This record gives sequence, structure tokens and C-alpha cells, in this order.
Amino acid sequence: MQKINVALVGLQFGGAFVKIYRDHPNVGEFGIYDIDGVRKLEVSENAGVGKLYASFDEILCDKNVDAVHLVTPIPLHEEQTIAVLESGKHCACTVPMALTTDGIRRIAETTRKTGRNFMMMETTLYTYQFYYVNELIRQGKIGKIQFMRGSHYQDMANWPDYWMGLPPMHYGTHAIGPMVALSGSRISV
Ligand SMILES: NC(=O)c1ccc[n+]([C@@H]2O[C@H](COP(=O)([O-])OP(=O)(O)OC[C@H]3O[C@@H](n4cnc5c(N)ncnc54)[C@H](O)[C@@H]3O)[C@@H](O)[C@H]2O)c1
Repeated sequence: MQKINVALVGLQFGGAFVKIYRDHPNVGEFGIYDIDGVRKLEVSENAGVGKLYASFDEILCDKNVDAVHLVTPIPLHEEQTIAVLESGKHCACTVPMALTTDGIRRIAETTRKTGRNFMMMETTLYTYQFYYVNELIRQGKIGKIQFMRGSHYQDMANWPDYWMGLPPMHYGTHAIGPMVALSGSRISV
């Protein structure tokens, strides 16, 4: 069984992935980093993860790391993804991929240029609702799909201020991703 070495960056929502990587049979070495040193130590102590990076650059320079998972604030995604890919590592990034179509194109081009993999971590494709509808389609119970419409509702009470007023299309993937997957279609830029 081939193992890959993973670094996880950003440990607020990203903290939910720590035990998954720690315990996954295909993950070899696993390290974490957050610019907030207190949070990093808390997560490390809570989950028993011993490998703590001192900076994002240290991860980029670590030849042992095969893949980096970014769960950092939205405005950082584009530049951090490009830096990861250009360092020769595979990159997974939480949604959204970037804030502009130019940013998305840059990442797509860098992925082609470097030959590394990029994965946008759309979590709605791993929900019970998604699996349920997917199964209905697979069993032929829904029939031929002619039209789909998606929406995403979220209770945002007590969320950080920067979410208020965020243009909806800067965070459209939870509504769009399931429809793309269920219809077997692709979005190209
Ligand atoms: N279901 C989902 O797919 C889902 C759910 C929640 C959040 N998200 C995404 O996850 C990302 C993070 O969301 P959040 O709610 O945890 O945000 P947050 O702002 O609460 O936390 C971000 C974390 O990243 C750290 N950080 C900030 N700058 C950093 C840097 N330069 N290097 C390393 N770490 C840095 C912060 O200290 C903090 O721990 C966002 O992009 C959001 O869109 C996705």
C-alpha cells in the first residue's frame, strides 16, 4: 500500500481533518501548521500529532512532503496553492479555489505546468444528502434528469465578520458542486 506524506495548513475548520489524516492507512508522515501558534499547539496536544511546522515556507522546502492541504482564509488560497504546486507538491485546497476566474486559470495552468495534482475539497460531495440522491440516480429511480437547480443555506450566527457581505458567487461551490457531480458534467475555464 503506497503511503503519502501530508501537511495540513490552517487548523480552525482544518482541525476537523487532523484525526482523519493521522489515522488514514495511506498517510505516512503527517504534519500541521497554523500561523496561530497557540491553536497549533492545542491541536497537536489534543490529537497527538508530533510534527509541527514553524512556517509555511518550511513545508514548501520539506522534500519529504508529498501533498499539502490548505484550509486557510479565502484570500490566501490562490497564492498558497501556486506556491505549493511550484514547490513540486500536490495540493488540496478548501473552497473556494480562488476569488477570480483569472486566479482559477492561474492554478489550472500551474497544475498543467508542474504536473502535480490539484483537488478542490468540496465537502458537499461527502454528505448523506448527496449519497442519497446519487443512489436514487444510480438505481434509475429519478429518471432522466433535464434540469437541476442548487442552493445552499447556512446558519452563519457567530461566524467571523468577513463572511458578511461576501458575494455569493465567491462561495458558490456548495450549491454548484453536487449538481456538476450528479449530472456527470464538468466546468471548464
Ligand atoms: N464545508 C466546507 O467546505 C467549509 C467549511 C468551513 C470553512 N471552509 C473553508 O475553510 C477555510 C477556513 O475557514 P475557517 O472557518 O477555518 O476560517 P478561520 O478564519 O476561522 O480560520 C483560518 C485558520 O487559518 C489560520 N491562518 C490564517 N492565515 C494563515 C497563514 N498565512 N498560514 C497558516 N495558517 C493561517 C488561522 O490562524 C486559522 O486557524 C475557508 O477558506 C473556508 O472557505 C470550508
